[in-house]
Amino acid sequence: MRHRAGRITGPFPLADGQFVWLRQVRAEDAPRLVELCQRLSPLSMWRRFLRSTARCDPQEAERLASVDQVREVAVAAIPDPHADSPILAVGRFHGDGSDRAELAVVVDDAYQRLGLGRLLLQWVVQEAARRGLRTLDGYVLYDNQPMLRLLRSSGHPLEVKWDNGDLLTIKLDVRPPVGQGPIRRLLPSVCPWPRRPGTVAARPGGQRRGRRAVVQARAASL
Ligand SMILES: CC(C)(COP(=O)(O)OP(=O)(O)OC[C@H]1O[C@@H](n2cnc3c(N)ncnc32)[C@H](O)[C@@H]1OP(=O)(O)O)[C@@H](O)C(=O)NCCC(=O)NCCS
Repeated sequence: MRHRAGRITGPFPLADGQFVWLRQVRAEDAPRLVELCQRLSPLSMWRRFLRSTARCDPQEAERLASVDQVREVAVAAIPDPHADSPILAVGRFHGDGSDRAELAVVVDDAYQRLGLGRLLLQWVVQEAARRGLRTLDGYVLYDNQPMLRLLRSSGHPLEVKWDNGDLLTIKLDVRPPVGQGPIRRLLPSVCPWPRRPGTVAARPGGQRRGRRAVVQARAASL
């Protein structure tokens, strides 16, 4: 389906019988991201942004919406295929120029436990693999059971490390299993938009980051 808002894929059924559609996040989505942010419970906010008082301000939303879909890739789930539809959930990864990228997912509290997180994770994994990435990294609070269970049940090898403090570092191997050939189409109708030419830009400073750096990065980009 092609809409004036761009390519939209779906519908995808949720556990309660509702349907959602997926489309790329784009710059005009900033107000919708503010609204999504404002609808999040304090717990979801804390788990997503690793801070209790996310600002949900327009400038931050503009940064979140300004994804180039090359280095920064993001998809939004919407409840009907119209341009002014609210955003129910977002899945994204931000590359660092290597074969890995940082993963983030958030689902509106009213739509959690319906399969939306799994749908977005599948999309993100498939899109990352299609771009030749090997690993999606993430920082997950140690008691974020919903995210940890979602990752563990993804069907992809998962490495979870705890160094100290309240954050776990996760690494999800997104490569297709050996012998499977190119990318298995987990979601046959997802990812129809072509990959734009270009490479994933480098993030200076190597792999490990302290909690402060992780939180700052979340505020600035993810
Ligand atoms: C983590 C999150 C994205 C999961 O999204 P969701 O749409 O609720 O997840 P799904 O309905 O697709 O569930 C998929 C699996 O995740 C796990 N899961 C999801 N919610 C769970 C919960 N409340 N308790 C335990 N497991 C849970 C389960 O294994 C579930 O599979 P099952 O339903 O077959 O048992 C969502 O809870 C969220 O947005 N949390 C706040 C933001 C966040 O923590 N982001 C991660 C850090 S970036």
